[in-house]
Amino acid sequence: MEAKLQRWVQRQGWDRASSCYERYWQQQLQPAIDLVLETADLRPGEQVIDVACGTGMVTLPAAARVAPTGRVLATDLSPKMVAEVADRAPALGLTNVAVECCDAQTLTGDASFDVVLCSLGLMYFPDPLAAMREFHRVLRPGGRTVVSVWGERRRCGWAEVFPIVDARVSSDVCPMFFALGAQGALAFTLGQAGFVDIEEHRLSVELRYANDDDALGAAFVGGPVALAHSRFDEDTRRSAHLEYLASIAEFADGPGYRVPGEFVIASARRAEGSHAIHTNKKGTIQ
Ligand SMILES: C[S@@+](CC[C@H](N)C(=O)[O-])C[C@H]1O[C@@H](n2cnc3c(N)ncnc32)[C@H](O)[C@@H]1O
Repeated sequence: MEAKLQRWVQRQGWDRASSCYERYWQQQLQPAIDLVLETADLRPGEQVIDVACGTGMVTLPAAARVAPTGRVLATDLSPKMVAEVADRAPALGLTNVAVECCDAQTLTGDASFDVVLCSLGLMYFPDPLAAMREFHRVLRPGGRTVVSVWGERRRCGWAEVFPIVDARVSSDVCPMFFALGAQGALAFTLGQAGFVDIEEHRLSVELRYANDDDALGAAFVGGPVALAHSRFDEDTRRSAHLEYLASIAEFADGPGYRVPGEFVIASARRAEGSHAIHTNKKGTIQ
């Protein structure tokens, strides 16, 4: 899919999902989010950028950890997602969060952050390597990044949602969704982007859904296929739902489901004294 179209689909889909993302996903993603935060080991005073921040599930605890003198810049392609973060931070008494609506491949700043976080965002970017180079560019030498993605396709029991939706729309929703989840792929790509001291960990989880509605809501309404799903007519929607429920039937547990899932969390560092040789969005050599 052309990059411009992929960004448009993502922005529209996540704008639509923003109000119910946490209802369907907070509990399910919490173990991966906790591991990202634990791995990042944030300290008071650090300057952090959270890329593809969503509703702020990583941003807000990160801001609490770096307070009072540190700050977090929360960025996302979806205006509604960044608006959620901007609303929530002051409600939690956090005055050290700024938000910016932007693409992950064109970040603000230049060697200005101690830490770049990106939790479950890379799968949606048109060019994850270009985004990681951008993470490297905005980090100060010696700064660190912690990123997470979904793991191997065969270990994610909900994965059939993509072919089911793709069969009913004209272009793939997330063409390379599981590419970085393959063994070693995340670490390899971080290396290509110039990072050093790379470590990769896998985390297996069970996604628990209380009933069919819960499982369908998470798959179709609370995530990246929300735009395509919103455009289905009644018959298409019903057939897609039935096909998806059949695909997770083996994980049924009473009226609900226990669907396996896997995450990959990686950490890496920009070498001390390293000079970025990447071009920024204006095309100038850094
Ligand atoms: C699964 S959510 C993750 C949100 C949050 N980091 C978390 O862990 O809950 C994926 C996020 O990626 C954002 N996104 C998708 N494509 C993007 C892009 N090209 N640049 C920046 N953000 C993007 C979406 O808007 C969405 O908020």
